[in-house]
Amino acid sequence: MAASRSQSLAPVIAIDGPSASGKGTVAQGVAAALGFHYLDSGALYRLVALAAMRAGTPLDAERAVAALAESLPASFRNGETLLGGVVVTDDLRTEACSAAASKVAAFPAVRTALLARQRAFRQPPGLVADGRDMGSVVFPDAGLKVFLTAGAEVRAERRYKQLIDKGIPANIDALLLDLRERDARDASRPVAPLVRCPDARLLDTTGITVAEAVATVVAWYREAA
Ligand code: DC
Repeated sequence: MAASRSQSLAPVIAIDGPSASGKGTVAQGVAAALGFHYLDSGALYRLVALAAMRAGTPLDAERAVAALAESLPASFRNGETLLGGVVVTDDLRTEACSAAASKVAAFPAVRTALLARQRAFRQPPGLVADGRDMGSVVFPDAGLKVFLTAGAEVRAERRYKQLIDKGIPANIDALLLDLRERDARDASRPVAPLVRCPDARLLDTTGITVAEAVATVVAWYREAA
């Protein structure tokens, strides 16, 4: 029953991996190449963290943070992310928000609160979903699962460049430390930890361009279809 229902649903490409691995850029490139929708699930956790910080809700108050997640007034429009109708795209990318998102993402109640919202992105002609548990929890029946990664130093450099390009001050050593801490927290939490599913294909982007990574995922999808 579940299998036949999933066959009638739109196809999903699940792209999981650690922070700053280039998942977002690659996933958006794949979505554009195939004309698919795109889900940035990390943005939802960042939005919950931002909403909690703005409401003065302590980040360790699981119930209260989950309640915010359930009624999150979030929307996505023309590449911008909105909270309560206000554009917060850049606010979500600050290091404070990154650290807070990693904390709230460890709460089972928060993850459950965001599940239906994530699955609602699965619409024809298809979805490219990026995150940590897209292949393991949210879309376990995805037609293609990719685990995308890159060395920690390369990821820290990429995040540094992104922040500097946006005019946000950054320190590369602090970023590397933060990334390692966040990787450890995301990988060791008891609920939906960052893991490579046994059925996910591994893509290491350390020495390749975004265009090469996108072309690889698109080729894998066509092979699997
Ligand atoms: O991908 P990102 O850096 O924007 O994600 C922000 C945080 O949310 C990160 O600490 C991991 C967490 N996250 C998660 O737990 N599950 C997801 N599907 C996506 C992100």
